[in-house]
Amino acid sequence: MSITVTPTSPDFFAEISGVDVSKPLAPADCLAIENAINRYAVVVFHDQKLDDDQQVAFARNFGPIASSALKLRHRDIKHRIESSDVADISNLDSEGKVLRPDARRRLDGLANRLWHTDASFRAVPGGLSMLYAHVIPDEGGDTEFADMRAAYDALPDAKKRELEGLIAEHSIWRSREQLGVVQYTEEERASLPPVPQRVVRTHPGSQRKTLYLAAHASHIIGMPVADGRLIILDLIEHATQPRFVHAHKWRQGDLVIWDNRCTMHRARPFDTTKVRDLRRVTTRDVASTLEQAA
Ligand code: OGA
Ligand code: MN
Repeated sequence: MSITVTPTSPDFFAEISGVDVSKPLAPADCLAIENAINRYAVVVFHDQKLDDDQQVAFARNFGPIASSALKLRHRDIKHRIESSDVADISNLDSEGKVLRPDARRRLDGLANRLWHTDASFRAVPGGLSMLYAHVIPDEGGDTEFADMRAAYDALPDAKKRELEGLIAEHSIWRSREQLGVVQYTEEERASLPPVPQRVVRTHPGSQRKTLYLAAHASHIIGMPVADGRLIILDLIEHATQPRFVHAHKWRQGDLVIWDNRCTMHRARPFDTTKVRDLRRVTTRDVASTLEQAA
């Protein structure tokens, strides 16, 4: 089997075939996948069979694993997935039943419907996210991806100059607050304090400049909150125009990898009485964006 990379557009979103991701990766295949991610930012593998351990083992080829913050902000419930290497991106409780409409974990997960990038609210944010589809509803529940390098490139030069050096404060509580989801304890809040991140950064894998934004971004440090918030809202609106967005329609057995450093994504609605079971493993970026190239 040899790896084939089939782009769906010149610089964004590719399909990769000819590799079984449940098996140890040959170095050449690992490099080919890495190169494809660096160029296309989002890649999809179809028809894969992965258990949680295999998914984690595959992710380790690309860096150290970031522990899921889910258990930090939900301390009082039993979790379906024990390992903190695996984020439970499902609508299921610890017994495998669909979460009730008012379940706190369901409401918390609705923040995935807002445009975001994973773990920008942590000092060392997310690197690559790898989301695997166990069960997919018949309709709805797509994931959309926005190309933040293309969005940066399309800004007028004067706007690019205005954004130089800006630092946003990111907090997981900001994305929840936008949906009126605020029922967290002081202890949960204290476990994930706000962090600063650059608004524009150089994507290390391609050396292209990119916007770095998320629903977690609250305001711009050193500026009135309202002004900073408007800058963030305008940029997210710009970056999520249809010309920068690709929607992924899931099939069971899909593994999608995205580079959080140069994309945003959001989940789309589906009939929430149906099961949607995806699980995510995310690698850690090397450092805070403040310690990386602007
Ligand atoms: C995630 C996420 C979107 C989705 O796993 O980080 O935002 O469609 N998922 O489930
Ligand atoms: Mn996400």
